[in-house]
Amino acid sequence: MTASRLVPGPVTVRVPAKVNLELLVGPLRDDGFHTLATVYQAVGLYDDVTVAAADTWGVSVSGALAAGVPTDADNLGLRAARLLADRYAGGPAHVGIRKGIPVAGGMAGGSADAAAALVGLDQLWDLGLDRDELEEVAAELGSDVPFLVSGGTAMGSGRGERLAPVLARGTYHWVFALAEGGLSTPEVYAECDRLRAGTVVPEPVATPALMAALRTGDPHELAPQLTNDLQPAAISLRPELGETLDAGMEYGALAGVVSGSGPTIAFLVENNEAGIDLAVALTASGVVRDVRRAAGPVHGAHVIHQRAD
Ligand code: C5P
Repeated sequence: MTASRLVPGPVTVRVPAKVNLELLVGPLRDDGFHTLATVYQAVGLYDDVTVAAADTWGVSVSGALAAGVPTDADNLGLRAARLLADRYAGGPAHVGIRKGIPVAGGMAGGSADAAAALVGLDQLWDLGLDRDELEEVAAELGSDVPFLVSGGTAMGSGRGERLAPVLARGTYHWVFALAEGGLSTPEVYAECDRLRAGTVVPEPVATPALMAALRTGDPHELAPQLTNDLQPAAISLRPELGETLDAGMEYGALAGVVSGSGPTIAFLVENNEAGIDLAVALTASGVVRDVRRAAGPVHGAHVIHQRAD
């Protein structure tokens, strides 16, 4: 064995974005989070995260969407790495993030990087953690980090971190309308509370009709079931999102919904060709900053490369 083989080579993990097919927001809990009933779907917009042994902890961010991502101790990918090292053995590492997921867009880009760092370092440090162990650390980092570890289509309860599988058939095609600038998740939840002040908010329960629609694999069945309790709050903070939703419907989307806490809008379309048409029409209309097309469900964070040093 050569000396260099004692240091494992960098590990690259590909991790998807998510869209909430249903996001029902319940009462505010004592810990500052809201009880959720949500159905997540992982979609094919990806960050690639490379973890490597290093002398000191560090993070770097690249790609056309890198602007606005913190490159200090606040970076969720780096926080994930340090938490895993505290919890299990592991030396300093560098986390290199290539962004393909919109930043602060309601698609869990930061959470995705945390999930990817956990999966990559599990391999780099040869920890041999199982899915449950990874998801437990993931839940400490953010409400939707566990889902980005598992991917697919899943129901989230608690504050979103408790997962149960959902039987979903088929592939769904999406067009995502990116907005200028991000929205702060805590601010959107606070606006949701403000808009609902004085009303009794029930404990949220996932809708059986959505589950039934997902079993058909038919986007026409899924379209009327897409719903997001944070949508009025996101539109209240960004009224122009209402125009984007109207434009997408006018140009042929089956349905449109604010993704998570926004401001990205997710449009469900009939098939790949319809997605191309909608993306072209939205781009030409000038109402959106940019568009992305993706299909779902896809797998969660997974290793795509390990250099054999
Ligand atoms: O868990 P995560 O870091 O994504 O949450 C960011 C913020 O979003 C929380 O600090 C909280 O303000 C809000 N949030 C919430 N209820 C949830 C999830 C998030 O109020 N279930």
